[in-house]
Amino acid sequence: MKKILTIILGSLLFASTIEAKTLVAYYSITGNTQKAAEVVAEATGADLYQIELVTPYPPEYRDQVALAKKELADGTLPPIKPWPENISQYYVVFVGSPVWLGTMATPVRTFLASGVLKGKTVIPFVTHGGGGADNCFIDTAKLCEGCEVETDGWSGYGSMTFGLKKWAEKSLKEAVE
Ligand SMILES: Cc1cc2nc3c(=O)[nH]c(=O)nc-3n(C[C@H](O)[C@H](O)[C@H](O)COP(=O)(O)O)c2cc1C
Repeated sequence: MKKILTIILGSLLFASTIEAKTLVAYYSITGNTQKAAEVVAEATGADLYQIELVTPYPPEYRDQVALAKKELADGTLPPIKPWPENISQYYVVFVGSPVWLGTMATPVRTFLASGVLKGKTVIPFVTHGGGGADNCFIDTAKLCEGCEVETDGWSGYGSMTFGLKKWAEKSLKEAVE
């Protein structure tokens, strides 16, 4: 009986340790990626962190596309507000982004390229407007130097989250095995 209790308690402790060390970082303008990020956080017991720009993106879609095009063309990484102080405690970081011009949104590129994720397992997921994930996952691996990037990410159209919960659970399990 004592042995069984020890095993049960041990498993519970192990499960909560995994949960405590997982973060979901995301950027979102119109809420689609935020919704997906919330599903991932709930499925994995992870903490949520919203990436925010120091200077927010313009409100009009046309202006957003123009600015994103310019930033991607000249390699600008727009400054973001500080990430959580305790970020070093997370081993696994899910990173959510809208697809922008076939790649990760520029604020997410800033986060990926910052070096803060070095040595961590990074699992990307994206929402898009019909073009699919495009180069997002491969670009995540290129930008995040020294990270263990899972390139089999998840992508969803608009605010749809089909299969996301299962994918998140499976991805976390594989990452900690
Ligand atoms: C600047 C910009 C560029 C975009 N480029 C693409 C694209 O290349 N392919 C695509 O399918 N959708 C594209 N979209 C649509 C967004 O990826 C899609 O609406 C996404 O779900 C928005 O996420 P959010 O609500 O979290 O901001 C673009 C949107 C913006 C604002």
